[in-house]
Amino acid sequence: DWTPNAFVQETVEDLQAKLGDDKVVLGLSGGVDSSVAAMLLHKAIGKNLYCIFVNNGLLRKNEFSDVLEQYKGMGLNVKGVDASAHFLDALAGLSDPEKKRKAIGNAFIEVFDQEAHLIEDVKWLAQGTIYPDVIESVSATGGPSATIKSHHNVGGLPDYMKLKIVEPLRALFKDEVRRVGTSMGMDKDLLGRHPFPGPGLAIRILGDITAEKVRILQEVDAVFINGLRDAGLYDKVWQAGAILLPVNSVGVMGDERTYEKCVALRAVESTDGMTADWVNLPYEFLQKTSNDIINKVKGVNRVVYDISSKPPATIEWE
Ligand code: XMP
Repeated sequence: DWTPNAFVQETVEDLQAKLGDDKVVLGLSGGVDSSVAAMLLHKAIGKNLYCIFVNNGLLRKNEFSDVLEQYKGMGLNVKGVDASAHFLDALAGLSDPEKKRKAIGNAFIEVFDQEAHLIEDVKWLAQGTIYPDVIESVSATGGPSATIKSHHNVGGLPDYMKLKIVEPLRALFKDEVRRVGTSMGMDKDLLGRHPFPGPGLAIRILGDITAEKVRILQEVDAVFINGLRDAGLYDKVWQAGAILLPVNSVGVMGDERTYEKCVALRAVESTDGMTADWVNLPYEFLQKTSNDIINKVKGVNRVVYDISSKPPATIEWE
C-alpha cells in the first residue's frame, strides 16, 4: 500500500543515490507541486538544491514577498528574482491569449536560464511535474486538450542548457502530493493553495496587459480570496479568482455618472481541472464581496459571477 511516509523515505534515498554531490536547480512557482518537490530535494541534498522563484509581476497581491519569506522559513536555499518589468515589456501590445502565453513562457526561460547560469557547475534541473501533467503533455502530441491551451509546465527549457531532468513527483496525483507535503511537516496553507496558472493574472486580464490593469485585478482578487478565507469557504473551493473584463459599463456614484471596469468572479469545484462545476456560493457572501470590491477598488463599478461549468466553458477565460 502506498503511504506518504514510505514515499518520502524511498524518494529521498533514490534522490541521494542518483544525485550524489551534484548541484540541482529548481524553479519555485509558489504552488503546491514545486514546493513539495523542493522540500523532497532539500531533505535529500540540502544546500546543493538551488531554488529560483521568479516574480513575473502577474502573481497575486503580495504573493511574491509573502511566499519568498515562507520558503526561506522552510530552510530552502532560494533566490527571489523580480523580473516584473521584463514580463510587462514582453507582453506590451499583446491581446491574443496564446501569444500572451508564449511571451510569458519565453520571458520565463530567459530569466530562469540567466539565473541558472550563475550557479557554477549545475548538473540537474528539478521539476514539480505530477502525473496529470505527464498525461497532458503526452496528449499534446495529438490530443485535443493541448491544442486548446498551451500549458507551459512541462518541458520547454532550451536545449542548450543541457541539464539532466529530475522529477520526484512524476508518479503522483495532486492529493498524494499534498499528503507527501503534510508528512514532511509543510505548512497547511501552502499545501492547501488553489491551483494558479503559470501565466498568472495575464490570462485573467482579457485583452492587453498594463501595469494599471494588473494592479486593479490584484486588488479585486485579494478582496475575493481573503473574503473566501474569512467566510471559511476557501477550502471548499477547488480554484477561485477574478477576471478583468475588457468592458466599461455605466454606473452612478453620488450625482456623478461613472464609466468604469467590470470584473467577473469565478469559483469552481473540480478534482483535476479537466471538468469543473461552478460553485453555488452563498448569496450573502456574493453580496458582501461585490460591495467590498466596488467600494475598495478604484476603477471598478460592476461585479458579475460566472455560472458556467466546464465543459464547455474552461476554468480560465483565456
Ligand atoms: P482551463 O482554463 O483549461 O484550466 O479549464 C484548467 C486548469 O489549468 C490551469 N491553466 C493553466 N496552468 N498554464 C498553467 O500552468 C496555463 O497556461 C494554464 N491555463 C490554464 C487553470 O488555472 C486550471 O487550474
